Amino acid sequence: MADGLALHQVGVRFGGLTALDDVSLEVGPGEVVGVIGPNGAGKTTLFNVVCGFVTAHTGTLTLDGRPLRPRPHRLTRLGIARTLQGTGLFAGLTVLENVMAGATHTARVGLLPALLGLPRSDRDERRLREHARAVLDELGIAGYADAAPGTLPFAVRQRVGLARALAARPRLLLLDEPAGGLGADDVDTLAELIRGLPHRAADPCAVLLVEHHMDLVMAVCDRIVVLDFGRVVAAGAPEAVREDPAVVDAYLGAAVDEAA
Ligand SMILES: Nc1ncnc2c1ncn2[C@@H]1O[C@H](COP(=O)(O)OP(=O)(O)OP(=O)(O)O)[C@@H](O)[C@H]1O
Ligand SMILES: [Mg+2]
Repeated sequence: MADGLALHQVGVRFGGLTALDDVSLEVGPGEVVGVIGPNGAGKTTLFNVVCGFVTAHTGTLTLDGRPLRPRPHRLTRLGIARTLQGTGLFAGLTVLENVMAGATHTARVGLLPALLGLPRSDRDERRLREHARAVLDELGIAGYADAAPGTLPFAVRQRVGLARALAARPRLLLLDEPAGGLGADDVDTLAELIRGLPHRAADPCAVLLVEHHMDLVMAVCDRIVVLDFGRVVAAGAPEAVREDPAVVDAYLGAAVDEAA
């Protein structure tokens, strides 16, 4: 497949430990692809390979058919955004400013001078501000625009983190465990939101979702890749993957043990 993100036979080792072994997967435009697997399966490592925090020892990545060597600071320019673990918001900025900060690469002047009240391009700043407000509105949190992130419930902060990632107008959004710490209602809201991302009017966005939460992955993904001990043990549509004996063994078995 030419368009979108592809991993080809990616391998990652940490010393003697093989965290990823011969992993291939694709995320095409408009797709929501999930990566699941038990603790230590390699999900975060895979996420970090795509973000550029971890370098693959073997294999290659491509974006729209071209070789991709991800670097964390260059991701948004490539049209890739990610959410940060624990929401990673700036405590000293308002919600709106945090979301604006996610889009600074789209402005011709830096946001920092603007936030410091220095002379600036008013038009650029206004554009950023309007776009940030629109994203907050889309996510149903416009009412918190002027709040300090630290004062907000976790579920709202988490959505602010998502807004900040979307403010960068990504074509591909990377999510690592976005349901972590959310209650059932908030997971439902999140699921609806993720399902809508490929259908956004202005900036449609594919999603690579790395997630422990089985229900969320089943509810939102077009395709699912199941990792166990760094290897792909199953891949396909949610219904097929759910029934796959390898998945039941590797993942559901572990989940049942944990729940017990
Ligand atoms: N920086 C590192 N150095 C050494 N080993 C690592 C490192 N990062 C991950 N590992 C190991 O690689 C394997 C895969 O870890 P990874 O964090 O990718 O799993 P995971 O699927 O995200 O697990 P979880 O569900 O607990 O988040 C594990 O055995 C882990 O201990
Ligand atoms: Mg992880």
